[in-house]
Amino acid sequence: MTTRLSIRQWAAPVTLRDKQTLLEAALAAGVPFPHNCMSGECGACKCRVLDGQVEHDPHLPEALSADERAQGLVLACRSRARGPVAVEWLVPERVRQALPPPRHLKVRVTDKTRASHDVIRLRVAVQGHALHFVPGQYARLRVGRLPARSYSMANLPGEGELEFHIRLVPQGLVSGHIAQHLDVGDTLRLEGPFGSATWQGVQPGPLLLVAGGTGLAPIMSILGAALDDGHPDIHVYHGVRDERDLYDSDILMSLHAAQRLRYTPVLSAPGAATPRRTGFVHEVLARDFPRLDTAALYAAGPPPMVEAVRAHALAAGLDAQHIAADAFHPAAPAGLSLVDRLRRLFRAQVPAAA
Ligand code: FES
Repeated sequence: MTTRLSIRQWAAPVTLRDKQTLLEAALAAGVPFPHNCMSGECGACKCRVLDGQVEHDPHLPEALSADERAQGLVLACRSRARGPVAVEWLVPERVRQALPPPRHLKVRVTDKTRASHDVIRLRVAVQGHALHFVPGQYARLRVGRLPARSYSMANLPGEGELEFHIRLVPQGLVSGHIAQHLDVGDTLRLEGPFGSATWQGVQPGPLLLVAGGTGLAPIMSILGAALDDGHPDIHVYHGVRDERDLYDSDILMSLHAAQRLRYTPVLSAPGAATPRRTGFVHEVLARDFPRLDTAALYAAGPPPMVEAVRAHALAAGLDAQHIAADAFHPAAPAGLSLVDRLRRLFRAQVPAAA
């Protein structure tokens, strides 16, 4: 059985096949529908149903609240049509139109080093034309026949290589393989870029860049763009559990010393007395910026951290349009059902490390 999906921002209708979600059908038809996790956890594919009805699969309440559902919003990655359906996505057109279309590429590993005890810095060279992306975007990397994983670019567009920060997940199928078996010269497949939590240029007020764990990758890319654009008031927060989880702090400290930015590492679970700021990164941000009437905020890291940062910013008076958030969703161990995966996420505390 097929039916029709109309998207207000896209002229051509899309064919929906049996069991396809709205997002799967749109992407299969080449529509650049905004999305991120593809599993009901981030809210990036949130859209408004203009006509028709959908069945909605389970999702995290952080991605779509009961209020939003009552207002006719759905997650395209969790919705299946009951007949012809019309929707509109919520990402502003000026943001979406600035995003390059995703491509499928082959890349070759040029460098693999440890950034910290559990973060690998992977550099790859693109074969053929360079990858166009906007700072803050991510790509899906596929190693051999393993499942694809999403990693943000940590460098600036236009460079011959791409840099990714890969956290070693305990029992992680893909990160474990990358750590143990991937070598310089090996080839990977890359799809991307994706994501709309991207650098929007210099705006009035301070620029707040808040990372949890390897959320530092997109934050470093955005930071590079902000420095290039001459932003005069940049604040970088990096939340991790303990001192040994920090990385790239030498670069950030030297920029801090040169008064190009203010760098604040935040330890949530220090194992010893420390001169660093301690606690959760959103709490430290709230102490430093109790009011946020004019600012631009970018947050990247684990979903509970990103949500806590966003909640503080909204409560402090920042307009939602000045908040760009990219929540990193851990891949479920092989064999874990969606229900188990959602249970894991519901149980998550508010960590400061990815
Ligand atoms: S892409 Fe649909 S909720 Fe993340």
